[in-house]
Parts: sequence; structure tokens; C-alpha cells
Amino acid sequence: MKGSFDHFMQKEIYEQPESVVNTMRGRVNFESHKVTLGGLKAYLATIRRCRRIVFCACGTSYHSCVATRAIFEELTEIPVSVELASDFLDRKTPIFRDDVCVFVSQSGETADTILALRYSLERGALCLGITNTVGSTISRETHCGVHINAGPEIGVASTKAYTSQFIALVMMAIQLSEDRSSMTQRRNDIIEELRKLSDHIKQVLNSDKELQQLAKDVLYKEKSLLIMGRGFQNATCLEGALKIKEVSYMHSEGILAGELKHGPLALIDENMPVILIMTKDSLYPKVQSALQQVTARKGQPIIICNDGDEGISSQYKTIRVPQTVDCLQGLLTIIPLQLLSYHLAVLHGVDVDFPRNLAKSVTVE
Ligand code: UD1
Ligand code: BG6
Repeated sequence: MKGSFDHFMQKEIYEQPESVVNTMRGRVNFESHKVTLGGLKAYLATIRRCRRIVFCACGTSYHSCVATRAIFEELTEIPVSVELASDFLDRKTPIFRDDVCVFVSQSGETADTILALRYSLERGALCLGITNTVGSTISRETHCGVHINAGPEIGVASTKAYTSQFIALVMMAIQLSEDRSSMTQRRNDIIEELRKLSDHIKQVLNSDKELQQLAKDVLYKEKSLLIMGRGFQNATCLEGALKIKEVSYMHSEGILAGELKHGPLALIDENMPVILIMTKDSLYPKVQSALQQVTARKGQPIIICNDGDEGISSQYKTIRVPQTVDCLQGLLTIIPLQLLSYHLAVLHGVDVDFPRNLAKSVTVE
């Protein structure tokens, strides 16, 4: 079952060059630059007319929604909100017939997400599912949706499901925007980069040994780790921090770099480990200023940045990833964090695939 790998999590991290292809198979036409999600076809007009799109999920699935909110809003010009299922229910969020609610769930059996789905169905919203398990409760009870076709994910800490959910949501945004000629170039650019994605992920996986060394030499003994970024990389910080917590039991926190001076900067000194995600996009200069704020307090951040970015001083440890279009960059920057969390867990000698206190699918509220 694990093949040549020591753990399911490791196997599933390494499966991503193939699982991302499976998610896109039969759905992205790289010649005509068209996306076809069979499950949504009958509903496209209704979704395009909706008042807003509400994403609702838990854990890593929630982060896949955070990761794609901006591109969804840009391509569809529909307001998008992202909800944690438990809070969505606690607040008794107002939901109406002209809302579209999207429930993202790898297992399709997470209790909070199912309850949020049923709450929305009762209020007449059009309910979509983005699921990895055919025949699961969410897959069956939603009006329509998309199976991410990532293959079974055994490791409790989600890895390949995250990247496949991310891609499924991007594909959905592209298909929804196909009635907008003004977005044609942007769609084509994204689809071109989706074509390269599998090879890009393979390149990132090649830095595994270096990441294992980094975990051993720099992070293993640490008590906490801050991961900072913004824009399209905000979700990467949240998801990377969750991975570190889930599998290595080490405290970690994802921080929106724009929020640094509103509190988190007080944590920064020469002893606080920081990873800063500074990939080439429109916010690069703002992340550079966050880097300066951190180094001015003697912070020594590890920087996740793009191959070929010569603007990073050699004084910093760097983790390099290929540059891709801004809205897909998070599919690459998450890989080193998945690998780091895996190696930290192995170093701590904990059960990587079945971390203490956690379940693959929380089927009770
Ligand atoms: C479907 C077939 C696939 C086949 C393809 C051929 C299934 C499960 N999928 O894939 O085997 O190769 O047609 O065109 O038989 N759905 C929900 N909620 C969800 C997920 C899916 O309601 O959370 C619905 C969809 O709206 C759709 C059906 O389930 O009606 C299958 O979804 P999906 O597998 O994504 O559809 P296709 O990719 O077209
Ligand atoms: C948690 C899992 O129990 O549930 C996470 O440990 C997962 O990996 C979260 O992201 C949500 O699960 P699902 O199946 O709804 O995506």
C-alpha cells in the first residue's frame, strides 16, 4: 500500500505530480484553453446569476477555499466569502435562494460541513460539492459538484487533496468566467501554467533532501514557527502552519504579512523561527517591507522564493520553487511546507500518518 515510501503522507506528497493530472484529466483542454466540468454544466447559468458564492469547509479544505477566493472573484466578478463550517453554523449565517454555497470536503463526511450543507439546502441555496469521495454524503446531498479524482488519501494530514481541491476550484472559476471575453488572456495564461504544473511539482520535490536537512539542523529543536505571506500566499501560510501542527505537534502560526505591525511583530527576535513566502507577484514589494520589519528585529527568516530571483540577499536561507502564474503559485509553495512538516514529524518520532487526537474525517460535531 505504501510502495517504496515509509508513510502514506510521504507517498501522497510524492503522488502530487500524478494526482494533479488526474484532477484535470478530461476537464482541461490545453489546446483550446477550455475547461469543462461535466457536473456543473447544467447549473452554470444559475451560478453566474447568483448574488454571491459562499465557500464552506473545515481544516485543510477550508484553506483550499482561502487559496482560490481571489482568483474566483477576479474571474467571475461575483462576491465570494469563505466560511469555517462550525462558525457558519454557530452564527446561523443568513443564506438565501439566490446564494450559491460550495462545500469542500475530501471525505465528504465531515459532520460540520454536512450540517452546514443541510442548513443551506433548507434555505433554498444552490449547493455544490467539491469532494474526493464518490458516493459520500456531501457528494450525494449537493445539487451538483466536482469530484477532485485525487485517489484515496490515507494520511490524516491532507496533502494531495489540498492541491487537487485548489485546482478543482480554479477550474470552476475558469469555467464560470468563460462568458467573459475580457478574461480570455488571463484564462489562457492560467491554463498554460496548469499544463506545466506536474513538472513544476516534480522540480520542487527534488529539494526534499535539502528540506530534510533544514528540518534537522534548524527547526527540529524549535518550540514554534511563524509562517508569513500575503495575497495568494496567505492560504499557504495557514495550510503550512496547520501541517506543522498536525504532524509534528510543534506550535506554528500562519500570519498575514500585512498584519505584522498590528501585533505579531512583538514575537520577533533572533530566537523566533520565521518562514517568509516572497514569490514574484504584485505584492512582492510589500512582502519585502515585511522582511525588513522582521530583520530589523534581528529575525533571521527562511525565505521561500522563486528560482532566478536574484533580489534576495545571500545572507538568508532560501527555499526555491519555480515561478508560475500568481494564482497557482500556492500549489508550489505548499510543497516544501508539506515536506518540512513530514520530516519534523519523523524527527520527533511521532505517528506521521495517524497523529494523536486527530481523525481523517471528523464525523461528529
Ligand atoms: C463523470 C463520471 C466519470 C466519467 C465522466 C465522463 C462519476 C462519479 N463520474 O465525471 O466517471 O468518466 O463523467 O464524462 O460517475 N457531484 C455532486 N456533488 C459532488 C461531486 C459531484 O453532486 O460533490 C455530481 C456532479 O454534479 C455530477 C456527478 O456527481 O453530476 C459526477 O461528478 P464528477 O465525477 O465530477 O463528474 P465528471 O467529471 O463529469
Ligand atoms: C480533519 C482532517 O479531521 O478534517 C483534515 O484531519 C481535513 O486533514 C479536515 O482537512 C476536513 O476534512 P474533509 O474530509 O472535510 O476535507
